[in-house]
Amino acid sequence: MLEQKERYSLVQSVLARLQLDQGLGVTHVSLPPSATVPAALPKPASPAPQPPASHTTRVVVPPSRPVAPTPESPADNLSRFPMVPYYEPRPHPERASLLAPWRDLALTCQKCPPGKTRRHPVWGEGALDCQLMFVGEAPGADEDWHGRPFVGLSGKLLTDILEKGMHIPRQEVYITNVLKCRPPGNRTPTPEECRHCFPFLEKQIAVIQPRILVALGVVAAKSILDLGPDSRGLRGHWHNYHGIPLRVLYHPSYLLRQRKALREGGHSDADRETWEDVKEILRLREELS
Ligand code: URA
Repeated sequence: MLEQKERYSLVQSVLARLQLDQGLGVTHVSLPPSATVPAALPKPASPAPQPPASHTTRVVVPPSRPVAPTPESPADNLSRFPMVPYYEPRPHPERASLLAPWRDLALTCQKCPPGKTRRHPVWGEGALDCQLMFVGEAPGADEDWHGRPFVGLSGKLLTDILEKGMHIPRQEVYITNVLKCRPPGNRTPTPEECRHCFPFLEKQIAVIQPRILVALGVVAAKSILDLGPDSRGLRGHWHNYHGIPLRVLYHPSYLLRQRKALREGGHSDADRETWEDVKEILRLREELS
């Protein structure tokens, strides 16, 4: 049994820790098991990789701005907790400081309409010394709310592809988008918006220098490869972005729509094609390491 004095000092240190975390805007939450292993998705072939025991599950709450819900971003449809937990990636202070000024610029940029209507800009997250970098189109409602990329339903699927399919913990890769702000009403970003925002992604790729780039969906692929609007047949083979091999995957939200269309939630052709692409990415990753 603890002495009264020891109990008192224990309580004091817990209170101090909570105050510190509040000051930093960090909230500790215990996530229910269903938050990490979604019931609706196929069972993993082997247990999903777990982060090292030293990792604390932390949800970093982006600095909040009191913004009233708008018709374009109704707060009601959002998950208040991100569907994927946040694990602190390995730090890389040198690359982080190279990116910091660009990040600051992106977080305050209001050059195009999404910059004026978004709740939180979404810069990107993950390991700055990753082998694989995933690039989506633009933040959706959940991402706009949480200030993190791919944390809604499509983020849950992307995380499952990574962790259950590829056996790579999410925090081992880097995930970002072409656009750093959510387009109003989740519309597809215009080519002009992609052009405005592209220098941020360009800088991220130049600093991070991933071994392999993965474009999630055609909008990201066309933007990175600077292709015209009518380009077709982009997936199923390798592209080259300034010497970095680039593979195009179906966007996770397209995969979800295909599954929904199948109704029974089984595997669609798009799932099977994605699995072929994923195997090819894993093969090249193995070859390059
Ligand atoms: N769709 C995207 O393209 N990016 C996100 O971050 C979320 C959904």
